[in-house]
Amino acid sequence: MSIISFYKNGEVIAIGTILVSTGSYVPEQRLTNSQLTEMVETSDEWIVQRTGIRERRIASNMQTSELAIPAAQRALEDGGVSAQELDLIIACTATPDSYTPSLACRVQAAIGADNAFAFDASAACSGFVYATDIVDSYFRAGKAKTALVVCAETLSRLVDFTDRTVCCLFGDGAGAAVFRWSETEEGILQTVMGADGTRGDALLAKALPVEDALNGDRTYSHTDRFLHMNGKEVFRFAARTVPDAIDRVLNKAGMTADEIDWVVPHQANLRIIDVICRRYGLKKEQVYVNLDRFGNTSSASVPICLDEMRQKGLLKRGQRAIFVGFGGGLTYGAILLRI
Ligand code: COA
Repeated sequence: MSIISFYKNGEVIAIGTILVSTGSYVPEQRLTNSQLTEMVETSDEWIVQRTGIRERRIASNMQTSELAIPAAQRALEDGGVSAQELDLIIACTATPDSYTPSLACRVQAAIGADNAFAFDASAACSGFVYATDIVDSYFRAGKAKTALVVCAETLSRLVDFTDRTVCCLFGDGAGAAVFRWSETEEGILQTVMGADGTRGDALLAKALPVEDALNGDRTYSHTDRFLHMNGKEVFRFAARTVPDAIDRVLNKAGMTADEIDWVVPHQANLRIIDVICRRYGLKKEQVYVNLDRFGNTSSASVPICLDEMRQKGLLKRGQRAIFVGFGGGLTYGAILLRI
């Protein structure tokens, strides 16, 4: 992938995948740290000091698609893009309504995107950056021109609210972005994706259990249905791979950190974000943070941030931003783009 792309009639023409618009949707219901102290042995002070999270949203009695669809609709409205213009929809979720149809197909049906092909990409908290990289690859292959990435999670359904090591971290929400292939702008400059499946058990949410379907006991155990996490291992993985991914994406683009206006990281833990700030000498104002209000919404966290940033007018044309994801898989990825 090159930054500036080709010559036409003697002129350098920029081409690339541009971010057109964003949308998000979070459920109304808030779960504060103080409410959690009534459920498990914890304290507001412990949660804020170790994670930075103060409250999160909970989608009680809602399916993931009920978050994804309004987020997608808002992204289309924000960009003045009609559903018929979409030729690709990628959805990310660890909590789909169903194995089939996919969340992407549910969104496609609800918004009436008749001309799009649609599928889910599974990369847990790195979902948005992975899906954006896939969109960029389809565009560069000439197989699509306008795409919707929609990330939606109802992780509260996977969380054991008697397990204090996990229940304070996660929240529910959805974020979406529309991308378009441009023959005049650069958009995405470089991407770096990675995974370490050998550490997958550090963040484990099981699907259907292995069983003897014809003769066996088909009860699904209580512990099997919840998310299990080795927090320290995930933290170490993030502290190592996130700066490495940022280094590599900058190197590939021939840029340095001081040329970057924004870093939009996956919202898992303020201490991980502090590692990024210190490593690159970034000012706090250059790194967008909303985990205090939403907790870790997995794949939805980066697009929810982007949508807030756009609503606040923080993202300006020509600025350079890095989106960073990491999490289950274990996976990670970074995308460098010109807004
Ligand atoms: N409230 C109070 N105490 C808690 C607690 C809570 N909610 N959760 C854990 N503790 C206790 C532990 O039981 C432990 O007690 P002990 O020393 O008596 O055994 C103590 O606090 C320290 O636990 P530890 O796991 O060492 O804390 P930590 O500093 O590693 O912080 C995390 C825990 C989960 C906040 C941290 O590891 C983390 O953020 N990891 C990354 C997780 C993540 O981002 N996951 C999603 C990735 S997409």
